[in-house]
Amino acid sequence: MKDLTAIEALRRASAEGRPLPARAYTDEALFRLEKQRIFDGSTFAVAGLGDAERPGEWTRASDADPRLVITCGADLQRHAIFDVCRHRGATLLPEQPSGRQRALCLECPYHQWRYGLDGARLGVGRGSSEPLVRARCEQRAAQRWARYDDAVHPDFSLPEWLDVLDRAPLVRARSTRWEVRANWKLVVQNFVEAHHFEGVHRALERWTPWRASQSTMGEWWIAGEMPLVEDAETVSETGRTNGRALIVGDERERRRVRDAYVFPNALYSRQPDYLLAYRLFALDVDRTALWCDTLVHSKSEGCAIEEVARFWDRVHDEDRLVCESQQRAAGSRGFAPVAYEPSEDGVRAFDAMIARALAETLE
Ligand code: FES
Ligand SMILES: [Fe+2]
Repeated sequence: MKDLTAIEALRRASAEGRPLPARAYTDEALFRLEKQRIFDGSTFAVAGLGDAERPGEWTRASDADPRLVITCGADLQRHAIFDVCRHRGATLLPEQPSGRQRALCLECPYHQWRYGLDGARLGVGRGSSEPLVRARCEQRAAQRWARYDDAVHPDFSLPEWLDVLDRAPLVRARSTRWEVRANWKLVVQNFVEAHHFEGVHRALERWTPWRASQSTMGEWWIAGEMPLVEDAETVSETGRTNGRALIVGDERERRRVRDAYVFPNALYSRQPDYLLAYRLFALDVDRTALWCDTLVHSKSEGCAIEEVARFWDRVHDEDRLVCESQQRAAGSRGFAPVAYEPSEDGVRAFDAMIARALAETLE
């Protein structure tokens, strides 16, 4: 048999309607390509609401490219810049996850070239006037995104219910980070299907039974919706909103939970009274970092969210364990998945997105 490269094997499986083969989760060369094309050459969620919030503040995208920094200018515009000097490449900011430049500029410690928070060169006199290397920074769907002109998916459309949320006065009540010892694609696949609620998340299945879930696909996103059972107001330990203001107006929306995956690394779960906004970063072929911001209505600031936090910490851990079990198996010749279930159209759509995003690297 012809020795297929990992990309060819992945494309063939997707084209034939089969789940991705083991090497999609173990092949180092494929992983490097994904990093290059899907993450470093893409539009992706870098930081959350609340990061680089006030003039002069900055946040480092440590799990993506540690040199990529989101800054907040004096006019509250956010910028995505690389803190690498255009003179001879010294780094400009301290090696910490975030900070504040009170002088509203950056100065290179090596030979003192200066830059604005938008990356523009200041006080040009020596050398060139080239700005720092930068990307466009956009705020959409409660996250801050870095966007490159040569992105693999120039279309940046989102499900409408997600775009609408930008009009809600959301504030961040909690932010957590954890790691999963599994390939990032296993983590996304787990997110875009609900069948596993029954076996893996009994508590979640109690409020939103998986059989009532429906999905919708965009070109570069996958969305799902589920009605809440009659005796639930929201998804939490108690199923009660406990005084938290709703973030949706519509009567119908108050009775449902929506979720979405936005290529390549943003995930969302919206309940009537809070939004979970996730960012996922592929660290190694078998290691993924996840950030999760819990966003509530500004009127709910100070309201208790502990029962929401505890509920989701448990769900996230249940997902982590199942993804890690798949990753352990992916190194074995026994790992040979044969079919998607009908409820897994989201997984199928995601696998096809990956095949599409990598296709051009073969041409
Ligand atoms: S390397 Fe930054 S000024 Fe020389
Ligand atoms: Fe799950």
